[in-house]
Amino acid sequence: MPVKPKLIVGNWKCNPTSLKEAKKTIARIRKGVTRVKSEVVITPPAIFVKPLLGESRSGKLSFGVQNIASVPFGAHTGEIAASMVKEVGGHFTIIGHSERRATGETDEEVNKKVLLALEAKLTPIICVGEGVRDEEGKYFSFVQNQIEKALKGVAGKDLRYVTIAYEPIWAIGSKSKGALSPSLVEEMAIFIRRVLSQLFDTKQAASVRILYGGSVNPDNTAALLEEKNIGGLLVGRASLNPDTFLAIIQIAEGSLK
Ligand code: PGA
Repeated sequence: MPVKPKLIVGNWKCNPTSLKEAKKTIARIRKGVTRVKSEVVITPPAIFVKPLLGESRSGKLSFGVQNIASVPFGAHTGEIAASMVKEVGGHFTIIGHSERRATGETDEEVNKKVLLALEAKLTPIICVGEGVRDEEGKYFSFVQNQIEKALKGVAGKDLRYVTIAYEPIWAIGSKSKGALSPSLVEEMAIFIRRVLSQLFDTKQAASVRILYGGSVNPDNTAALLEEKNIGGLLVGRASLNPDTFLAIIQIAEGSLK
């Protein structure tokens, strides 16, 4: 079976502080990805998407946002609808990142956003992951519950457009304990696949791309991507530095050989 190209997503969160710097970083990344097979996506602050897309919408680099509204349009101050992201040239949206769930986003809102993203033909990157790895292994049912709720009402035929990012919360950010070991990420990816095949048919479940996120860097990329069920990475801090992000992409390319 041919090895599938990896999906490498850079989540810039609320960075950088200026559009000028964002443009500089994108120019470097764009140059570095002209020949890659991996799919590379940047999710900058939403207001930067259009200026960063510039004139050329083609090429290896796609853009997305870090959140969308849980409503299609209307009187919802401060929100950006899925269809608006699509209209300005975005193709992806992160949904249910733990930093948003921490501000009160519920599983029900995550589900509404997933359905709206699919309707707008955006690829939803649904973030799931536990806060702690308890000894009894309750984190498995925690993740199962997040997935079941996020995918409620999703048609099996649309599953191939769905991406799930497993991001254990304790592994995210500079104060974290660092990335989860690749074999334990793979164990969770297999579990997620099993949960999906209970909800949908096996072929549809197999079509979902499962990413890992949480302290990804060039040192742990190769080992993570060697695992069979890890289809790519969601990269936070390390995506803000173009050299580091390109190093991750180059390693991902190596995993295709
Ligand atoms: P990190 O963030 O790579 O900085 O740990 C990952 C994320 O929050 O998506």
